[in-house]
Amino acid sequence: MNYKRIEIAPSILSADFSILSNVADEVEASGARYLHLDVMDGQFVPQITFGPKLVSDLRNRSGLIFDAHLMIMNPENQIEAFAQAGCDYITIHQESCIHVNRALNMIREHGIKCGISICPGTSVSAIESVLDICDLVLVMTVNPGFGGQKMIQSCLDKVVKLCELREAEDYSYLISVDGGVNLDTIQDVVAAGADIAVTGSAFFNEPDKLSFMEKMHSLALESFH
Ligand code: DX5
Ligand code: ZN
Repeated sequence: MNYKRIEIAPSILSADFSILSNVADEVEASGARYLHLDVMDGQFVPQITFGPKLVSDLRNRSGLIFDAHLMIMNPENQIEAFAQAGCDYITIHQESCIHVNRALNMIREHGIKCGISICPGTSVSAIESVLDICDLVLVMTVNPGFGGQKMIQSCLDKVVKLCELREAEDYSYLISVDGGVNLDTIQDVVAAGADIAVTGSAFFNEPDKLSFMEKMHSLALESFH
């Protein structure tokens, strides 16, 4: 039996932004180790969320692993600020950046783990040339920009492909899945081979976070093979 524990990473996008420090405490109390931070600029995606100041303020109050998902154009211009803010992972989008290799190396030079993300319309081949330097690959299973969307299941084929490539090339990235992850879809995410499952609305719509996390992990366990 090939057992591993999936990391459930709550995304604060669906949280009440007026009480974010309580939210970080709540996420930690649920047993999660990661906090997924969705940064949106109103250009790469329609919404605007928050910038490095908020990440820095949360950093002062939380020991969670900060997993910043930059849904912004030209992310290279913001890497310095998010690095200083105390992110543990900074993930940029292949589609938002011309010089992806350079941007990923900028993140690494700050001693921070770097991630590359692909939208549903982008195939794994678009990022193959940078996989050797990535600590994380974030597979979007919805079109980025909003919480609460339905998972596009066919995107999970990319997770399978990324697992095969990691094995064949001896790469070391973690594979994260983001979009529409909930009690109905977690088993498919695990079966595809993901290491991290980001969950926004499913987590924050659930009043009993501890019980939600227990259910997610027990469903995940049934799916490991
Ligand atoms: C969407 C964001 C996600 C979002 C997921 O663009 O990147 O992290 O919070 O939300 P759910 O889990 O509701 O699909
Ligand atoms: Zn995200």
